[in-house]
Amino acid sequence: MTNDHKSPKTFTTQKSFNSSSTSTLTHPWPKRLLLLLITLITTLLFFQMQSLHNPFTITSSSITWSLYNTYSSFATRSNPSTASFDDRLRDSVTFLPLVDLRFAKTAMEGNTWFMSSINDTREPGESEHLRFPSAASHGRLLCMIARDKSDGAKNHYALAWPDALPIGASVRKGLTFVSDTYYDYDNIWHGLSAVVPFVRWHARNRCAKPARWVLFHWGEARASMGPWVRALMDATFGGEPNIETFNATGPTCFEDAVVFRHNEGSMSVPNRRAVYDMMRCRARSYCNIDERKADSPSSLDVTLFLRTGARAFANESGVIRVFERECGKVEGCSVRVRRPNGLSFCEQVRLMGETDVLVSPHGAQLTNMFFMERNSSVMEFFPKGWLEMAGVGQYVYHWIAGWSGMRHEGAWRDPNGVECPKEMVGEPGKCFTFYKDQKIGFDEEHFGRWAERVLKRAKQYKLDRMEGRVVEEGVAGCSCGS
Ligand SMILES: *[C@@H]1O[C@H](CO)[C@@H](O)[C@H](O)[C@H]1NC(C)=O
Ligand SMILES: *[C@@H]1O[C@H](CO)[C@@H](O)[C@H](O)[C@H]1NC(C)=O
Ligand SMILES: *[C@@H]1O[C@H](CO)[C@@H](O)[C@H](O)[C@H]1NC(C)=O
Ligand SMILES: *[C@@H]1O[C@H](CO)[C@@H](O)[C@H](O)[C@H]1NC(C)=O
Repeated sequence: MTNDHKSPKTFTTQKSFNSSSTSTLTHPWPKRLLLLLITLITTLLFFQMQSLHNPFTITSSSITWSLYNTYSSFATRSNPSTASFDDRLRDSVTFLPLVDLRFAKTAMEGNTWFMSSINDTREPGESEHLRFPSAASHGRLLCMIARDKSDGAKNHYALAWPDALPIGASVRKGLTFVSDTYYDYDNIWHGLSAVVPFVRWHARNRCAKPARWVLFHWGEARASMGPWVRALMDATFGGEPNIETFNATGPTCFEDAVVFRHNEGSMSVPNRRAVYDMMRCRARSYCNIDERKADSPSSLDVTLFLRTGARAFANESGVIRVFERECGKVEGCSVRVRRPNGLSFCEQVRLMGETDVLVSPHGAQLTNMFFMERNSSVMEFFPKGWLEMAGVGQYVYHWIAGWSGMRHEGAWRDPNGVECPKEMVGEPGKCFTFYKDQKIGFDEEHFGRWAERVLKRAKQYKLDRMEGRVVEEGVAGCSCGS
């Protein structure tokens, strides 16, 4: 199809068609003009069809635009009875399913299944994104119809020029952050992964703030974020997030939209670090925390951040006793036991600001680690079965430690614990489900040696920092870059 329209053959066909159907035209000049016009229209239609088929395949939008201008001014002057070109463009806006089920198995790879016809814009060190309008969108806006809350394939998107928006469209003014994640906006780890690229966008675009958020999970619009994620966004952007609900009757078009659909994607570590620095700084300010008071240089604060139920320590008092014993050997050291349940966002931010060594089972509460001072320590614990069965997801707190500039001091994996029942062995996923939320055991000797090593080093680090013996990388503060 692509080449047919450009080939001389088509041109010839066109020409013969012209000759027969315009036989009443005797003067060669108007005939040639008409021929030119028809060629222009054909080319224009070709581009238009291409654009419907695959919105980003056009490489020469300027041609389309100039053709459009030539044609539309000519048409309105010489043939007022024809429907206006804008109307035709408007009618021809094509909506595609928001998620492309052909890519359901590789939903987060490549272009992802979300808005699959459009390629990401890539910049070194940054998350892949899409922007509408932009040069890449040829000036077109993003329009969506997304009322289905349980099937993203029944929701739709289209690109449309501002002067030819689909009939019945409402336009949302200002900047809109559009997110699609494979996970969710409630779990603090998953929610954070989805919002990080938007904070980065804000930081590198003169603190641009979103007028609204559009939250998709599998192409289904979500109306809320979990309270922790919401509070973090409130703290970071200086206002509660306003979330689009798609309750308008017609399509919703966005004046200016930026789309992230890979979570952090290919963002570089220094850029991630700057994002975590900014969120730490803004969260502390939002929670009225005086930074200088939070982290006393002469103390060493150890927090046992303990879970109840799933992934709790089977022998909590034993664990607490070991840490208290080892802490007792370090000057200025104190141990405090806290549980994430029931702590408000600001209580978590404050607690982390006062923690030098965070001791905690694997779990979402560990996401809070980036609120600690840089280079603070994390000790993580897993029940039996995780190493063999949990896949790469078990390393997320190693990763966030690296990204936010903390020291992950390693993990302890319970070698004992209850065995997976025989009838589950061999059934995919069954044993992991069994192990996932088991209690975590206790190895007094190992915990003791590990705690001794970490606390000693952490204390030394604080002393070195206080006395100016370490050079830390510059910490990005609350303000935006360029
Ligand atoms: C999108 O990118 C892929 C891989 O780089 C390329 O093969 C494809 O042609 C691109 N599609 C469009 C519409 O630009
Ligand atoms: C649409 O939702 C917004 C809140 O997001 C609400 O203020 C508005 O009244 C709703 N409109 C309709 C027509 O339901
Ligand atoms: C917990 O650990 C302590 C210290 O090793 C031990 O004395 C105690 O018996 C343990 N408690 C349980 C319930 O295993
Ligand atoms: C952590 O401390 C080391 C020195 O021990 C320093 O080189 C490094 O830059 C610090 N890391 C961060 C993220 O500040």
